[in-house]
Amino acid sequence: MKFRKKILCIGAGYVGAPSNVMIAYKCPDYKVTVVDINAQRIAAWNSDHLPVYEPGLEELVLQTRGRNLFFSTDIEKQIAENDIIFVCVNTPTKTFGAGAGMAADLQYWEKTARQILENSKSPKIVIEKSTLPIKTALAMERILSSGKGDITFDVLSNPEFMAEGTAINDLENPDRVLIGSHETESGVAARAQLVEIYSRWVSPEKIITSNIWSAELSKLVANAFLAQRVSSINSISALCEKADADISEVARAVGTDTRIGAKFLKAGIGFGGSCFKKDILNLVYLCHSYGLPEVAAYWESVVKINEYQQERFIANVLRSMFNTLAGKKICLLGFSFKADTADTRESPAINITRMLLAEHAEVIITDPKALGNAAIDLANDKGKISFIEDPYQAAAGCHALAMMTDWDLYRKLDYRKIYKSMVKPAFIFDGRNIIDQQKCFEIGFNVFPIGKPALTHF
Ligand code: UDX
Ligand code: ADP
Repeated sequence: MKFRKKILCIGAGYVGAPSNVMIAYKCPDYKVTVVDINAQRIAAWNSDHLPVYEPGLEELVLQTRGRNLFFSTDIEKQIAENDIIFVCVNTPTKTFGAGAGMAADLQYWEKTARQILENSKSPKIVIEKSTLPIKTALAMERILSSGKGDITFDVLSNPEFMAEGTAINDLENPDRVLIGSHETESGVAARAQLVEIYSRWVSPEKIITSNIWSAELSKLVANAFLAQRVSSINSISALCEKADADISEVARAVGTDTRIGAKFLKAGIGFGGSCFKKDILNLVYLCHSYGLPEVAAYWESVVKINEYQQERFIANVLRSMFNTLAGKKICLLGFSFKADTADTRESPAINITRMLLAEHAEVIITDPKALGNAAIDLANDKGKISFIEDPYQAAAGCHALAMMTDWDLYRKLDYRKIYKSMVKPAFIFDGRNIIDQQKCFEIGFNVFPIGKPALTHF
């Protein structure tokens, strides 16, 4: 079959694969190939067990794979054959050298830029989709134009705003698609090609164009603002617990102001996920490097409050359970960083498990999707940890339940049955405020919500 256009995605992770699956689904006349250096990951994309769990994703893969969607490890050949290349490789925080713990580690990304240069025999549009520090596109352009030949490369920035767990809906109905380009003739022409792809399913007023650096910065700032809302409400949850106010009531009263809006005001054990912390630290590093220490400190406090919220949660568990957790069994309900994903990157549950182990508690972890990743995250941690998929079996014989993830499943559990199987007095620490706390209290639990008075039988 002759395809109208050929698109390549380098990096078959949480961002690259779903976003290109959506392009393949919406543009059957385009050939979309997704490549990765990780052969196991590519094999999984070609199998019945996809490496990413995302509601609705499998259905789209089944409709497109082998038709106009292909997964491959042959990166060099694919670079040569494709005209439009999305770069979706990972950009973790640097763990060494200058900017360690803050700046983005750009080594994977730079390798990709060089690989594109070496294997291109025709003009390419290279689209930066990974979240990167601003001016990365400029560096990419410099690498690509360092070649001796006369091949032209147009670099665009097209950050992805989808969230895990709702990726398919977010990709299909985005609030906006952002495309950063140069205002040169070839920059504008390249942008038009990308606009044409998205126009297949996104209305024109939602396709925003800007200069490249604004696009890069907007992604960091959007994540920083979202995370800042979570830290803001979490900081107020601490105050509510002291002042006998109720965080849900405060969030509702505040969020009904249309200028503020109701979303992202759920207090909990703090944000996780691969983006928020990394992007804020990136922003902080950027501010420092431009000589703006006050701005850097402002954004850094968002991360600090997130850590504080987790420490506060454990301090509360310890205090409520008579100041000792040694030998006690604590069941963590959920391990992924949010519902509807198996992803555990930066999940608050990781830190919370470690703090519990430091108190010599025994940790029993349950999660409908994330136990495999949880076992990898905790592989080097010493202490008693077990992984049990069935929440009833996991909770049986425990002293306390600690809600880590807002899986819908946990709202609907039979807490009466669970209560009967636990050691008394039984505790629930509802780190997500998702259970019927009054009902659990009436069953006999001592209930410790976030940002609300505790319900105890003592
Ligand atoms: C985020 C951005 O939303 C998305 O636009 C970007 O592309 C990637 O980063 P993601 O990390 O997948 O997406 O999930 P998100 O829904 O933003 O949640 C992040 C964390 O914040 C989760 O741990 C979630 O539980 C927490 N959160 C979110 C709260 O604690 N309270 C809230 O009210 C909202
Ligand atoms: P994200 O959440 O940003 O999508 P992931 O870690 O899920 O991050 O995915 C990034 C993917 O990029 C990984 O599967 C990784 O193997 C892949 N990758 C990293 N470097 C390269 C490279 N040089 N060439 C191809 N793929 C790469």
